[in-house]
Amino acid sequence: MLNFDFYNPTHIVFGKDTLNQLDSLVPKNAKVLITYGGGSVKKFGTLETVLKNLPNREVFEFGGIEPNPQFDTLMKAVEIVKEKNIDFLLAVGGGSVMDGTKFIALAANYSGDALDLLTPEFELAPVDRATPMGTVVTLPATGSEMNNGAVISHKNIKVPVFSMFTFPKFSILDPTLTFTLPKTQVANGIVDTFIHTVEQYVTYPVDARFQDRTAEGILQTLIEVGKTTLDEPENYDARANLVWCATMALNGLIGAGVPQDWTTHMIGHEITAIFGIDHAKTLAVLQPAIWEVRKEQKRKKLIQYAERVWHICEENEDKKIDLAISKTREFFESLGMKTHLSDYNITEAQFDDIIKSLEHNKRTALSESGDLTLKISREILQKAL
Ligand code: NZQ
Ligand code: ZN
Repeated sequence: MLNFDFYNPTHIVFGKDTLNQLDSLVPKNAKVLITYGGGSVKKFGTLETVLKNLPNREVFEFGGIEPNPQFDTLMKAVEIVKEKNIDFLLAVGGGSVMDGTKFIALAANYSGDALDLLTPEFELAPVDRATPMGTVVTLPATGSEMNNGAVISHKNIKVPVFSMFTFPKFSILDPTLTFTLPKTQVANGIVDTFIHTVEQYVTYPVDARFQDRTAEGILQTLIEVGKTTLDEPENYDARANLVWCATMALNGLIGAGVPQDWTTHMIGHEITAIFGIDHAKTLAVLQPAIWEVRKEQKRKKLIQYAERVWHICEENEDKKIDLAISKTREFFESLGMKTHLSDYNITEAQFDDIIKSLEHNKRTALSESGDLTLKISREILQKAL
């Protein structure tokens, strides 16, 4: 097992009717800014319940945070935080709202140019404090509710933001708040969670048994409940399992002490930024292609994945790997996800744009061993066609 440093201070409150705990979770004397997205929380009554559960506080609202939250939109909220002396932020929404709120929390406390907070090299943002925040999760996918990362869009580029001060103080995970999600977003959530897990698991072995078995547990749970939670949106147990898997897949636990390969996310972000395709939809297209191209580097873990997650008994190891890749593709497709770039009308002629963007963002040495060059990224795109 590799050395690691694991820190996660987020308080999780999970279950039905847990919004009534907001009053005790948000400091009594706080001036609160509630942040939300394009209006789903208004339409489905979540915002109203949140407001009811925050009595006797000065509460402001900021709506309109778009999917793939935009720097310019978030800076408008930063102005409100400064002008009204907001001292607690409450994000009510999915990954975009939670991520956007983390950025607002940092930028409101930074005296320099807020663009400095966007950290393409994954280094920590140059800040020593952030406005404290909590979240109410309405979309299980990103794990943003229990980690300190965010992805912010600025001028057709998606850039990570990291800080030790952006772990939410608390997150309320009431699976019933996610019942209103359209199927396509539920499928996104299943696939995003699946990919977060395999990017910390299908690398090379380091004898990290707890991390491997926890990752396998998440993957098997997603395979078990995926179709059910898609077809039966109000099946509480199935949805509760998805919600908890999404959180656990990206809160640092399964990634502690193991190699990680974020290639799928890095190429995926470029595709989202250029073509506007949903985050998880890019991942479903890229992951099978990446494994095709990186079979040798990931051989041992792909075999472990085939045996322990898909229970493939095939003797021939190459066939075992191929079966595991095709079962993964079939699983994504069973959720209604497309698994080819051509399904989104992306052609070879557009690869140069993607490669240029990877180069511009210095994504030229990806993978668990840093040997995935732009040439290999192009090969992956070719396989994903
Ligand atoms: O904006 P509203 O009207 O709320 O509608 C949203 C949005 O259109 C809708 N929605 C959310 N909850 C709903 C609902 N509709 C009905 N009922 C509900 N309960 O869903 C749409 C998508 O929301 P969004 O927040 O964009 O989706 P998601 O949670 O998938 O977040 C994607 C963003 O997270 C980033 C992605 O890059 C992307 O920007 N990620 C953040 C990560 C992190 N912080 O650790 C890691 C991830 O890998 C990812 O990169
Ligand atoms: Zn993701």
